[in-house]
Amino acid sequence: ERLPELLRRMPKAELHIHIEGSLEPELIFEMARRNRVALPYASVEELRRAYAFTNLQSFLDIYYAGASVLITERDFHDMAWAYLQKARADNVLHAEIFFDPQTHTARGVAMETVLNGLHQACVRAQADLGLSASLILCFLRHLSEAEAFETLEAALPLRDKFIGVGLDSSEVGHPPEKFARVFARCRELGLHLVAHAGEEGPPAYVWTALDLLKVERIDHGVQSTKDAQLMRRLAQDRIPLTVCPLSNLKLCVFPALGQHNLRELLDAGLVATVNSDDPAYFGGYLNDNFTQTFAATGLSAQQAWQLAANSFEASFIGADAKRRYR
Ligand code: HPA
Ligand code: ZN
Repeated sequence: ERLPELLRRMPKAELHIHIEGSLEPELIFEMARRNRVALPYASVEELRRAYAFTNLQSFLDIYYAGASVLITERDFHDMAWAYLQKARADNVLHAEIFFDPQTHTARGVAMETVLNGLHQACVRAQADLGLSASLILCFLRHLSEAEAFETLEAALPLRDKFIGVGLDSSEVGHPPEKFARVFARCRELGLHLVAHAGEEGPPAYVWTALDLLKVERIDHGVQSTKDAQLMRRLAQDRIPLTVCPLSNLKLCVFPALGQHNLRELLDAGLVATVNSDDPAYFGGYLNDNFTQTFAATGLSAQQAWQLAANSFEASFIGADAKRRYR
């Protein structure tokens, strides 16, 4: 069997996908029309042409603008359902999906509208696609600790609709320790904990995500290779990294896919996984990330199976379910 076919047909879990980053330009324009939201772009083509990023912030500005068309429960459902169908086509059997409630509540959309719409799509995915999907609420790190606490309070009446919390948005200048007290509270509540760290930010942010936030996984974490002691810690404690190669390429974290450090992470014995991050913006869903990265770096079939196994090990499915995927 050719490697690209193996990569496509392997069962896998996706653990780093921002649902707002799965909103395709066509759906942005459709929702803008039905919700009468004005867009600063004349057409789908013009919007797509704006997708030329130089770093994380240049992407975030456009990503938050795109999310402004999401108003109703149906919008949130339709966005997530479109992603889940694409994920199933990539043989994703389990997905843990980030959402950014503050991007919506700041515009007057209710937390309930966001969570109910997304959750309905997850229930439908299990029933219609046999794909299990759960939600992870992300705090925006460029906003304050107080705003994160308010967001958590607003979400707690819907506690059964999400499994954990994460930390995303502009990394540099907003270290994990800014949210130590919020994460401590989430930990008491029994929520799973993850955080973006070491995407553009230094290895020090990965250390504080682990030691102060006590996260179970690191999102991105690719800057960790700059710190040998950190690499040993990640390997010894089997802390998974949810790596997003096409994202790293499009946000200029690496100059070319062939220079990505995924092989180095695997060779060091880390539980690295491959994920799509914001597939509508970065030029590909999960299988595109696998096939393009393998073509550029020359990783092997054995490493493909390792990455698929890692994705289930790193997930928050129960121990019984994990055994079934081994
Ligand atoms: N990094 C930080 N915040 C984000 C990202 C990312 O890659 N994608 C969506 N929000
Ligand atoms: Zn991300």
